[in-house]
Amino acid sequence: MGRPFAAFGAEIYRRGTAGERPHFPTDPSRLEDAARAVLRDEAFAYVAGGAGAGATMRANVAAFDRWGLAPRMLADNTARDWSVEILGTPMPAPLLLAPIGVQSILHPDGELGTARAAAALGVPMVLSTAASHTTEEVADANGDGPRWYQLYWPIDDAVTASLLDRAAASGFSVLVVTLDTWTLGWRPHDLDAGYLPFLRGVGTAVAFSDPAFRAGLQRPPEEDLAAAVAHRQRLFTGTARSWERFAFVRDHWRGPLVVKGIQRPDDARRALEAGADGVIVSNHGGRQVDRAVASLSALPGVLAAVGGRAPVLFDSGVRTGADVALALALGADAVLLGRPYAYGLALGGAAGVEHVVRCVLAELDLTLALAGHADLAGLRADPDAVQPL
Ligand SMILES: Cc1cc2nc3c(=O)[nH]c(=O)nc-3n(C[C@H](O)[C@H](O)[C@H](O)COP(=O)(O)O)c2cc1C
Repeated sequence: MGRPFAAFGAEIYRRGTAGERPHFPTDPSRLEDAARAVLRDEAFAYVAGGAGAGATMRANVAAFDRWGLAPRMLADNTARDWSVEILGTPMPAPLLLAPIGVQSILHPDGELGTARAAAALGVPMVLSTAASHTTEEVADANGDGPRWYQLYWPIDDAVTASLLDRAAASGFSVLVVTLDTWTLGWRPHDLDAGYLPFLRGVGTAVAFSDPAFRAGLQRPPEEDLAAAVAHRQRLFTGTARSWERFAFVRDHWRGPLVVKGIQRPDDARRALEAGADGVIVSNHGGRQVDRAVASLSALPGVLAAVGGRAPVLFDSGVRTGADVALALALGADAVLLGRPYAYGLALGGAAGVEHVVRCVLAELDLTLALAGHADLAGLRADPDAVQPL
């Protein structure tokens, strides 16, 4: 039996009778404002900003307004179970924490806070290659929690192999290869501030701690930061990879592998042919190609192309538990939560992340329950669960 996520709301009301209020907002739009108030301007802009004029970032969110659930009454669903297993990873609900780099600009605990919160809830986290703590440190903080590893794919094969070996040795069970960020998109918020954390040696812990990366330096990063930063930029940006070269990554990871950044049916098919075990429909939260279609608009086409052969995960624009419910109703196997938990981290470290994720899970549970569902199989079996608005 899954956990009664909705009980979080009841707990908040109960405490309210004793005069206690939640430490952090439960309304996701207030979360962003609250995070803005505690963050340095450049850090807030780095997280909240998108590519170009922000059209795709807005479209990602607006796309959820084009669909609606059709609630069914008097369905016997007092007992509910949203637990699911994806690529060998059991999770209490089809929800993961998206890879978000450079978390130390949000809170001193950075990815360690996220790892602790994820472990406390049993929700899988996806660690970014652009993390501000090492792979091993994050694994340690995550303990027995389920964890996936996101690769920014270096152009040096020895470094790629070393990063993957470390992730496997540290208990990361599924590899997420992000394909949409072989170079950074045009991001006016960061350009205006002249702010790219990696150039200051922030968000570089995974690379800087890597033996194969360090072998390419004349002096270690601790002695020559500028040279290490330049080497990292050379390895991680500026050259598009090919599906042919993708075989190298596939061959060097024994566990399940999913590709992230898929927006087209043909790419989804190509990914499966190339040996991917699943795809993540994502446009990186509108941070890469402005004027790209909303990620939710891309989901049905990718689902049709994959045709149930592999899990299709989704992100970009998910703000609430009701958003998660809608993406699941449209056919996503699981959903990755992005910016909202980053704001939670900014507000309260691990406690802030835990609060945000518990809010999302509670709303997901209540939304699907009130819509007449008790588990995912039932949701999938209902042809009228979701309709165009
Ligand atoms: C500040 C920030 C950093 C991110 N860093 C990474 C990263 O290192 N690797 C990656 O694959 N995706 C990264 N993403 C993209 C997220 O994994 C996810 O696709 C995105 O946040 C979804 O959009 P949303 O947060 O608007 O829902 C980042 C997103 C943000 C906001």
